Amino acid sequence: MRNSIIRGIAFLEYCTGLLAGRMCGVSFIARYLRNPNPRVTIKLLRAFGATVGRDTTIKRALVIDNASEDQNSSGDFSHLKIGANCYIGDNSFLDLADHIIIEDNAIISANASFVTHASCGRSPYLSTKFPRKCARIVVKTGAWVGYGATVFPGVTVGRNAVLGAHSLLLEDADPGCLYVGIPAKKVQEFAGGQS
Ligand SMILES: CC(C)(COP(=O)(O)OP(=O)(O)OC[C@H]1O[C@@H](n2cnc3c(N)ncnc32)[C@H](O)[C@@H]1OP(=O)(O)O)[C@@H](O)C(=O)NCCC(=O)NCCS
Repeated sequence: MRNSIIRGIAFLEYCTGLLAGRMCGVSFIARYLRNPNPRVTIKLLRAFGATVGRDTTIKRALVIDNASEDQNSSGDFSHLKIGANCYIGDNSFLDLADHIIIEDNAIISANASFVTHASCGRSPYLSTKFPRKCARIVVKTGAWVGYGATVFPGVTVGRNAVLGAHSLLLEDADPGCLYVGIPAKKVQEFAGGQS
């Protein structure tokens, strides 16, 4: 009985979200996903263009930025591709100005941030020094991004690589290696982790 009620509420939330998203745009769904019913999250992501593979868990809140506001935005969640059997921790920050591709079996711990663009265009001076950048992020199969870590535009986290908690990854992480610190540096290679 209790389970049927929980499923019924989730279905109602999904239908309401779908309708509101179709009427008000994807920014409504992005707002809802900051405090969602986790049973509804993956369905809504898929309904608005994201790819999410089977057996993937999205723990709770997602902070999705730039699904629609940025000049490179797609206007939906199609820049987000999450493979099968992934774990996406609470409060992950996903900047969808460009693509974020998370391959199968990857683990994203809570409060990790994926920043796909950098722009200081409102400052005439700084925008000449730091031209706008916008580039995809890829997290390869089996990689682990630790709690509160940040990945910058254009960076790939290699297969079975680990990014330590609160680290800042500015360049590609080699497969099967541990990166830690700000900026993150390689400190270890795992035997057999490259294959
Ligand atoms: C990366 C991690 C897995 C490494 O664990 P470990 O194998 O026990 O490694 P060690 O503690 O031996 O650390 C190896 C070196 O990296 C350093 N290091 C480890 N994690 C670090 C981090 N997050 N930031 C900076 N340095 C770090 C250690 O100080 C050590 O340096 P040293 O060799 O100069 O002493 C772990 O530190 C980590 O960050 N885990 C993430 C936990 C998490 O995100 N949990 C969320 C729920 S899943």
